[in-house]
Amino acid sequence: MNELVYKFAENEIEYDGVREVRQHVFVEEQEIPENLVFGGDPGDDENLVVVLEGTSVIGTARIVFPSHDTAKIERMAVLGKYRNRGVGRKMMAFMVSEIKNQGLAKVYLHAQYTAVDFYKSCGFRDIGKTFKEAGIKHIKMELDLFDIIPSDTEDYIDHRKN
Ligand SMILES: CC(C)(COP(=O)(O)OP(=O)(O)OC[C@H]1O[C@@H](n2cnc3c(N)ncnc32)[C@H](O)[C@@H]1OP(=O)(O)O)[C@@H](O)C(=O)NCCC(=O)NCCS
Repeated sequence: MNELVYKFAENEIEYDGVREVRQHVFVEEQEIPENLVFGGDPGDDENLVVVLEGTSVIGTARIVFPSHDTAKIERMAVLGKYRNRGVGRKMMAFMVSEIKNQGLAKVYLHAQYTAVDFYKSCGFRDIGKTFKEAGIKHIKMELDLFDIIPSDTEDYIDHRKN
């Protein structure tokens, strides 16, 4: 695997790459209807995170802000052939650091049930009951950002995992 860059999307090539990753992962692999994968409120895709290998997008997620002190992570996906190599974890570390730097207290997400262990390994805890979203079993998970020092995010995640 060549060097990877973790950043916010900045140009049309990267936005197109995001759409392609979502198409592969959510529409083709998981068979989620396109209107649910690509629909949403205007502005939802403003804070799009991308992982680049060269100029190709190989992973993506977005950060939305449901309230003044809370962020939500959505549409997290890594292309199949790049999985289980630490890309998702580094993407999460990047997002947590960015959210923390904005002074927010909490971040949550709706985890597909099959990804719960991944999010736990990133420090999230599950809360509430399971529910169906796009026909898939989900659970809400959250991470309290109060004690995290931004520059130590990776250490924090590794520490929480053990
Ligand atoms: C979930 C996802 C983003 C994780 O990305 P990734 O790059 O494979 O994750 P990492 O390699 O950083 O994994 C970090 C750890 O979580 C584990 N892990 C990764 N995906 C997992 C999964 N689906 N279930 C359980 N554990 C998982 C890895 O084994 C690794 O553990 P380790 O450090 O002990 O080896 C990726 O599997 C994916 O895109 N899945 C399909 C889309 C999806 O389900 N998105 C979630 C929507 S809520």
